[in-house]
Amino acid sequence: PREPLVLGIETSCDETGVGIVRGTTLLANVIASSMDEHARYGGVVPEIAARAHLEALTPTLKAALAEAQVDLHDLDAIAVTSGPGLSGALMVGVGAAKALAISLDKPLYAVNHLVGHVGADILSGDLSGQTRAGDSADTAFEYPTIALLVSGGHTSLLLVRDLVDDVELLGETIDDAAGEAFDKVARLLGLPYPGGPQIDAVAVNGDPNAIRFPRGLSLPKDMEKHRYDFSFSGLKTAVARWVEQCRDSGQEVPVADVAASFREAVADVLITKAVKACRELGVPRLLLGGGVVANARVRQLAEERCAAAGVALRIPPLSLCTDNGAMIAALGAQLVSAGRAPSGLGFGADSTLPV
Ligand code: KG4
Ligand code: ZN
Repeated sequence: PREPLVLGIETSCDETGVGIVRGTTLLANVIASSMDEHARYGGVVPEIAARAHLEALTPTLKAALAEAQVDLHDLDAIAVTSGPGLSGALMVGVGAAKALAISLDKPLYAVNHLVGHVGADILSGDLSGQTRAGDSADTAFEYPTIALLVSGGHTSLLLVRDLVDDVELLGETIDDAAGEAFDKVARLLGLPYPGGPQIDAVAVNGDPNAIRFPRGLSLPKDMEKHRYDFSFSGLKTAVARWVEQCRDSGQEVPVADVAASFREAVADVLITKAVKACRELGVPRLLLGGGVVANARVRQLAEERCAAAGVALRIPPLSLCTDNGAMIAALGAQLVSAGRAPSGLGFGADSTLPV
């Protein structure tokens, strides 16, 4: 049978994403971001994000249809992120998807944003001219896989046995997301928002071993079930205290060394736990997703440690790692192909939707 033509809508944070896929083939991936509007606040402002989605969604949808050269009436299904994310932002995408589904009489699938990130890895076709990185560059997506999803909004470790119906949350951040920590530490160092790319650039000229920042979350034995959780607020506080002491004693803050040492601590924690999960659970594959995957040290450490552990590393092109509609469409297409019943129109936006 013909593979399903699916439209995906993503509005969980500050990216308005519309993607179109045919089965696992990417046809369009258009993204509008309200990032610039949040810059002066040092973080995503929910109300601003929601309003920006409302403005950007129609033009983004039109651009995606033009890119894929498909007509709305030809779609087999529509998929939309219903959570987790910012409530007001999610509602814009959910509302638009319902309106499309009703008017076009198409089946509608509500999907989980985090599982969507994993869906990015099954896409093939012209991936915006970017190639896959990692050991398994030319191999097809396989189960099971561990997925490490790190962005400004989430830091989650998943065990994916099957994209459609067997995704388990192993751990997540108990406070700040990794990207959020980058943004906050950047601010502390006087670097502009978003801070991740800034710290990454500055760190190149610093010594990652200059300051030994805490790796966070050392848990007592009875907390064994939380062994895959993350915590970054202690690290952030440690950096703040270090910088403060430096300033108090009249010394100039060695920004490059602080950035390099902080980046090292974050990369170390993320990759240590991800590879540990692969080893302990006997899963020989690790998939990375989310905006923090752009970080040079995170990628390098993942490559080194996965190679040493015999784990195949998969990193989709960055345009599919950051929030986008194509990954939501890809997951939707999997649900259609698996014969799943559509979600109907009764669902809402769920800011804390579990995987
Ligand atoms: O996935 P994403 O584009 O959007 C959401 O968070 O929804 O991720 C953005 C986050 C920001 O916190 C940003 O600072 C971080 O990813 N980021 C980075 C880098 N590039 C983006 N963090 C560290 N190093 C980078 N090179
Ligand atoms: Zn995301």
